[in-house]
Amino acid sequence: MSDKSYFDRVAEEWDQLRERFFSDTVREKALAVAGVQRGKRAADIGAGTGFITEGLIRLGLQVIALDESRAMLETMKKKFGHLKGIDYQLGEGENLPIPTGSVDYAFANMYLHHVENPSKAIREMVRILKPGGRLVITDLDEHRYEFLRTEQDDRWLGFKRDNLQRWFAGAGLREIRIDCLEEDCCAQSKCGCERIEISILIASATK
Ligand SMILES: C[S@@+](CC[C@H](N)C(=O)[O-])C[C@H]1O[C@@H](n2cnc3c(N)ncnc32)[C@H](O)[C@@H]1O
Repeated sequence: MSDKSYFDRVAEEWDQLRERFFSDTVREKALAVAGVQRGKRAADIGAGTGFITEGLIRLGLQVIALDESRAMLETMKKKFGHLKGIDYQLGEGENLPIPTGSVDYAFANMYLHHVENPSKAIREMVRILKPGGRLVITDLDEHRYEFLRTEQDDRWLGFKRDNLQRWFAGAGLREIRIDCLEEDCCAQSKCGCERIEISILIASATK
């Protein structure tokens, strides 16, 4: 067994895997809900190989793309290294190396269920937002598929919406909305014996 994390191991194939897990609609809805504006500054936390970052750059924003996996960030740099406006940051989501009140938007797509302490990770994303800034989290609804812990380094089997609501409110956010994104995340266990579909939620709020 390799001691590299799941994401260090799959970095080069992540974009193909991602296409099987969920579609570009997730990104379109996240950016729409945030109401992103050209020229503003956004953070993509747990950015991976840049799924959300790519959409933000196309719309003319400056992006801090943060991830704890060097391999995921290196894969993103191979794709987008020629583009201006991306600040690649290797770092830990529960202790962000980003100044307080410095971004207009914070995004986290399919990141939160991998962190040890989601409420702390949310508080960190809120900390880096400017007053009036928008947080948008797209992640999994609560589910029962244990194999995702061992096969894909998931720490949380999705989230109860009530918990997200409480963590958002506790972090001082207002205008909290948690809705169904109207798309499922699809995956299959290594043995091929479990083929699953988990509904995706979209949680947004203003600082
Ligand atoms: C499922 S991938 C999603 C990547 C990207 N957001 C996307 O939608 O394709 C989760 C990412 O979160 C990163 N990650 C997990 N836990 C983290 C943490 N505590 N701090 C920073 N990044 C983390 C992983 O390295 C991985 O790149």
